[in-house]
Amino acid sequence: MKRLLSFVLTCLLGLSFSSVTTAQGYQRRQSFNRNWHFKLNAGEGWQSPAKSDAGWRVLNLPHDWSIEGNFSKDNPATPGGGALPGGTGWYRKTFTVPTESIGKLVFIDFDGVYHRSEVWINGHYLGKRPNGYISFRYDLTPYLKYGTAKNLIAVKVDNSKQPNSRWYSGSGIYRNVWLTTTSKIHVPQSGTFVSTPWVTPARARTNVRTTVTNQSGTPALVTLNTVIYSPQGAAVSKASVKKTIAAGASPQIEQTLEVLNPLLWSVSHPALYKVVSKVIVNNQTLDTYETPLGIRTFKFDVQSGFSLNGQPLQIRGVCNHHDLGALGSAFNTRAAERQLEILKAMGCNAIRTSHNPPAPELLDLCDRMGFILMDEAFDMWKKQKNPFDYHLDWDQWHRKDLEDMIRRDRNHPSVFIWSVGNEIQEQWGDEKKGDTTGRVIARELVSIVKALDTTRAITTANNEINEWNNLIKSNAFALVGYNYNHKAWAGFSKRWPGKKFIVTESTSALQTRGHYDLIPFDTIRRWPEAWDKPIKGGGNPDFTVSAYDHVSAPWGSTHEESLIELNKNSHVSGMFVWTGFDYLGEPTPYPWPARSSYFGIIDLAGFPKDIYYLYQSAWTDKPVLHIYPHWNWKQGDTVDVVAYYNNADEVELFLNEQSQGTKAKQGDRMHVKWRVPFTPGTLRAISRKDGKNVLSSEVKTAGKPAKIQLVADRDTINADGNDLSFITAQVLDGDGNTVPTASNLLRFKVTGEGFLNATDNGNPTSHERFKSADRKAFNGLALAIIQSQYKAGKIHIEAVSEGLESAVIDIESK
Ligand code: GAL
Repeated sequence: MKRLLSFVLTCLLGLSFSSVTTAQGYQRRQSFNRNWHFKLNAGEGWQSPAKSDAGWRVLNLPHDWSIEGNFSKDNPATPGGGALPGGTGWYRKTFTVPTESIGKLVFIDFDGVYHRSEVWINGHYLGKRPNGYISFRYDLTPYLKYGTAKNLIAVKVDNSKQPNSRWYSGSGIYRNVWLTTTSKIHVPQSGTFVSTPWVTPARARTNVRTTVTNQSGTPALVTLNTVIYSPQGAAVSKASVKKTIAAGASPQIEQTLEVLNPLLWSVSHPALYKVVSKVIVNNQTLDTYETPLGIRTFKFDVQSGFSLNGQPLQIRGVCNHHDLGALGSAFNTRAAERQLEILKAMGCNAIRTSHNPPAPELLDLCDRMGFILMDEAFDMWKKQKNPFDYHLDWDQWHRKDLEDMIRRDRNHPSVFIWSVGNEIQEQWGDEKKGDTTGRVIARELVSIVKALDTTRAITTANNEINEWNNLIKSNAFALVGYNYNHKAWAGFSKRWPGKKFIVTESTSALQTRGHYDLIPFDTIRRWPEAWDKPIKGGGNPDFTVSAYDHVSAPWGSTHEESLIELNKNSHVSGMFVWTGFDYLGEPTPYPWPARSSYFGIIDLAGFPKDIYYLYQSAWTDKPVLHIYPHWNWKQGDTVDVVAYYNNADEVELFLNEQSQGTKAKQGDRMHVKWRVPFTPGTLRAISRKDGKNVLSSEVKTAGKPAKIQLVADRDTINADGNDLSFITAQVLDGDGNTVPTASNLLRFKVTGEGFLNATDNGNPTSHERFKSADRKAFNGLALAIIQSQYKAGKIHIEAVSEGLESAVIDIESK
């Protein structure tokens, strides 16, 4: 590929920004989500246009058919995979293509299909893609009919062979689908690469490499105009170059642009520039292509850990799986944004997309909201973790999948680390017996990444950091990732001198929101060995885990233990807590009837567990005072009351106005606690600084359930068919206190221009269907997820329950 260094034209402010979608007179990218016909287990041959799908269900994508099903331990996914059904689904969509598209190229872009998808257009086979998390494109042009003639896209999705995942995967076309129309001379998919090799406060040099492909059949003299727009939308730099591109050629054109006084991208101020590339032939704009740009520098250091824009920054991350709780894996931008908002408010600044490439919109959100991203490619290489997992496709597909992921994601300023594997089995391997597979593959993967991007750190998340770890020994990684074993973090530099270090996974503590075992807070329990084995030393008969921070998996630690260790070790760049949100599948510590995880700082419905406030007190400056547990116990119980606080010297606790004593955090401890004999009434804590009250926080003994209260996270949503309002239902007593143990059965009724997508309550053992309008409260709370239609108007939500005063709420869809 030829490269051309362009003449640099730096121009300051003043150019106005024109709409990129219409510059070439047609819409480059359109959503292709609506009106698909779907059938599960329909048999073979549905690619044929001769077959009729009349009577199939009509739906809009993204769609996950597993989440619609019933939980059963007999579903082949097993409880480890979420205990929901798999199978083989067919999707068909009939569409027309306007005659204006004749002479252009038309592509279909899938952001992700789980998995083993095969696609046909008008009966022609376009190809297959086994990997369920990768984005891919097919060129439809040669097979299209134009005008009023009908075209048929058929997609077969095969999630029948299970188990193939260690967590809930979902099934179907679960991410967005797009129809992309371009001129024959255009910027291809993932066709740009922007980087900022040189940044000072006065200027940033931006390197833009643009591939321009010429499929017109004749050579063309192409002008490539590249403009950088500031976060405020002003054109701040531009470059232009002319080049003759031979027929069939796809040269990469390199341009260097300068941005004066750049606003830097950071987690607190994620300044987002935009690069707009225009492909012009004969004074006509044939293509307009946008690329995000964040100007930032970062460094991992052996001694001092991570720094961003020259300032030390502890990476305070969480791992998350891709499911969105009750919505399953069906991607929804607002649902992902809500998760990130909740995490941001906790002080989290980083996300690990464990253990697969995310939906592209998640990267956009992280760019915009200020999260550092560890973008992960694989959970296994050649050696399997499950009988039908990606190891079967490894040989044929790993290069292509990894390359496609890097190309797709490398322009996102949020991406700082590429992970090429989690807990890869090839770490182990007896060298004496000649098993060096781990080292060979590690080097190969790193060379694949480096050929496409040398601006990020590359790592793997390892189980062990011993001398014999094949991946570390490969010397392919400057940054070593380590999962768990917090007591070994301090000794890392001795063992691997000269290497940089990050905790890619930590903690794996376990909690059920709102449930507390009345054992002393300091009794730390490590259960169990694995999610499918019985719990060692007990467990609770109702499959709950105490939400005090005193239970973890044996390989992990309590939240406080890992936070303390992180703070002690400045060579640790940061850590990603397992996990931010509870997720479907991997129901550690209990086997069935549990069907989702207990690891989250936040439960599956998005309700924070108490431990959320430990992070908030440690990781944010906003004043925090949180006390727990609830105050509904039996006379005679002795209860440990715990407080997380910041911005204060001490906390005093009162029970019915009687002081229980004033406490201050001791040493590296991050909480205070009191052992209090229970009497009903009001527990009140007051935090003080320099003798002055800072915050107060109260918990009251609640009476019997009397009424429901509904609270919407947003009371105005967009009438775009996708937007969501998350409605929390609380069961209250007659005085308006949340009843912390309430489990009343609620029924949601939604009328107007919206519909009930799903309900949840965060209980990992509930077998109620997520699509059901009936949902029991769990420890006082339930959630209804309301989705807009394509029409504006009021949405009326009502929650009723036998014996309780019902509640209504109206929201607006605009
Ligand atoms: C890790 C693994 C995660 C999850 C976690 C549970 O070892 O990387 O995917 O299984 O354990 O504690």
